[in-house]
Amino acid sequence: MSHAASMGPVTLVRHGRIGLLCIDHPPVNALSVATVAGLDAKVAAFEADPALDGLLIWCAGRTFVAGGDIAQFDAPGFDAAPYNRILARIEASERLVVAALHGTALGGGLELALACHYRLALPGARVGLPEIRLGLLPGALGSQRLPRACGAALALDLMLSGRMLDAEAALRAGIVDALATGEPLAAGLNYLEDLLDRRAPPRRLSALPASTAGLPADFFSQALLRARQEQARYPAAAAIVRAVEAAATRPFAEGEALEAALLASCVVSPESRALRHLFLAERQAARVPGVPAGLLPRVLHTAGVVGAGTMGRRIAMSLADAGMPVTLVEASGAALAKGLASVRARYEADAAAGRLRPEQVARRMGLIAGTLDYEALAGCELVIEAVVEDMALKQQVCGRLGRLCKPGAIIATNTSTLDVEVLAEASGRPADFAGLHFRNPANGGRLIEVVRGSATAPDVLVTAMQLARRLGKVAVVCGVCFGFIGNRMAEAYLRESEFLLMEGVSPVRLDAVMEACGMAMGPCRMLDVAGIDVSAKIVLEYGKAGGLPPDPAYRAVVRTLFRLGRLGCKSGAGLYRYPGGAAVADPEAERICRALGRAHGIARRTDISDAEIAERLLYPLVNEAAKLLEEGVASRPGDIDMVWTAGYGYPDYLGGPVWQADSIGLARIVAGLERYARLRGNPYDYWDVSPLLATLARGGQRLSDWVAPRPEAGAAPIPSAPGSAARPAGQGRIHPGPKPPQSVH
Ligand code: 3HC
Repeated sequence: MSHAASMGPVTLVRHGRIGLLCIDHPPVNALSVATVAGLDAKVAAFEADPALDGLLIWCAGRTFVAGGDIAQFDAPGFDAAPYNRILARIEASERLVVAALHGTALGGGLELALACHYRLALPGARVGLPEIRLGLLPGALGSQRLPRACGAALALDLMLSGRMLDAEAALRAGIVDALATGEPLAAGLNYLEDLLDRRAPPRRLSALPASTAGLPADFFSQALLRARQEQARYPAAAAIVRAVEAAATRPFAEGEALEAALLASCVVSPESRALRHLFLAERQAARVPGVPAGLLPRVLHTAGVVGAGTMGRRIAMSLADAGMPVTLVEASGAALAKGLASVRARYEADAAAGRLRPEQVARRMGLIAGTLDYEALAGCELVIEAVVEDMALKQQVCGRLGRLCKPGAIIATNTSTLDVEVLAEASGRPADFAGLHFRNPANGGRLIEVVRGSATAPDVLVTAMQLARRLGKVAVVCGVCFGFIGNRMAEAYLRESEFLLMEGVSPVRLDAVMEACGMAMGPCRMLDVAGIDVSAKIVLEYGKAGGLPPDPAYRAVVRTLFRLGRLGCKSGAGLYRYPGGAAVADPEAERICRALGRAHGIARRTDISDAEIAERLLYPLVNEAAKLLEEGVASRPGDIDMVWTAGYGYPDYLGGPVWQADSIGLARIVAGLERYARLRGNPYDYWDVSPLLATLARGGQRLSDWVAPRPEAGAAPIPSAPGSAARPAGQGRIHPGPKPPQSVH
């Protein structure tokens, strides 16, 4: 090798007749302003060096360019045009330019490769244009060059789904031209030398037609219709169809202009901003405040689960799905047999639907060892208790695990609401203890709340985060309080849902309004699906712990339905009826709700607007989010948005409750909370505005931008999460304490 032309994220070195252009911008070689400037300079240096016969573009580190720098799309004057001009120069070169792909060549990275004359892929390389997941269409002519490489139909499918193709599939599709083994530099060099020896001509995709062979005449109009109907909340979908249609039917320059115009409108769309916020929030959530970077996780090869009920068996499945051996312990043979049979039935249903191969079913079943013998857990490095939500029982189980698990093993509770500090104490090993709240269904849901007790060791948190990643889930660390982030906020949401039901709003209308707001499922369906009993037991259990407001009407609907045996879908009736499985309106449920309203002195109203329903459910959610931040239970606003979009069906195109609150305006939300306090009365503090929310609203600031105050100088490097012991009175509870009644409902 000769000298590097200069240092920076992009370098050019001469190797005989070949220029080696390397992009080295960890972690994923994203196209920052500096990278694009470096690319511009090094392409110019290649153009100016007549001694070079060809150029190899390759990347250092774990991957080829993984796309445009997502953090920089919001920079003032963001413009893809300068990058596109560099790509045009690369493609126009009379001397061969080749890209060697490894890792993930995505978005602007694949677009760079498509501007090259030939592409080589290494084993494990994957390619894709996932911009739609960020509410964008490819903006560096991917929408124009990809259809010319692999045909319009596959290109459209890849862009609308955002899915990746592996190297072999990319070769078959014509997206890459050759496969090779080895390192990108050496393999790329060999490939380019070979092309030069064979005098291969530059192959420019922009000069080729995009194949539409075999497609019906109305292919694009139908695709546009589907995009507008099925992906109506994602405007990038329709933009992609239009851009690919242009690639297939119009000259390259016209497609280029259309792509640029469509990108300009997508970049500033609220949907794209929200999705980009969530992309960054997800990565941010992986950084646990107070845990030193580089701290190693504990060794984790085998896991145990206590309880083969709905949660326990699904957690076992999630672990087995990730290839981890699991010991599943139950107290009775019948319960164990039922749990294992349910696991098998689910895997077999997946196989019948073509989602699993029979050998995968056998392998996963083989990883789950059911037993009645607690001692079998002694060798596990992690044991998750998932017995029913009963404090006394869970304390007993945690104590037993603390005695029998081997030193260094992590003990976790899957409780959704109970006090993790109490359970950590019961285990006798609070440093080894954490909450791992899997959202139901534990094997399909994306979210795990990692609950950090005041004594939880930092490496336990690191291990939990790594486990979540291995299971393909998003983990958010939070402190201890009733319901953590998700269920604590859900409690405020469900409380108001029930008051609306008691004021005479029907479950069908309530759900319709919230689904129109984008929620995946309205609150009444959510209660029925999760089980009225589950919700009622949480309320009853929290009542026993003294956490409920002294309000006889509080969650009266679930408590009554539970008493009546109306448990939701599982019993055939809850807030709906389920003849034949499908939810239908149930006049009896409405009658029960109205009767409860009368019994609790709640006036029936016929003037409740859809806007009032939405505000009364969403504003308390935001208020509770602000309280969680104030109390330090949630570390960052983005963590709350991750919890609600990954685990509670909140629409991602709205960015989560905090992000949406900023779109609505905090002042408007505070005014709304105050208005409903006057309208509904506020004897139990339900409408008390979070001081943080009030302050930010007064200052015209955004809640999403709020940063937790740094710990005082001299504070412990690993700050304790707010636990029950250290928690000021009233914090982390649904109700901070009795207050003289001011008015009735
Ligand atoms: N821009 C900026 N940072 C990025 C990035 C991007 N496009 N892609 C990944 N990163 C960062 C992450 O923020 C993270 O940073 P951190 O370590 O400081 O938290 C780091 O790279 C590693 O990311 P992951 O934790 O996600 O690592 P994985 O190994 O799990 O996944 C990946 C790697 C598959 C590349 C995944 O990060 C990914 O899917 N990235 C997004 C790819 C993408 O959407 N590209 C298109 C961008 S839009 C575009 O190119 C527009 C163009 O058409 C003009």
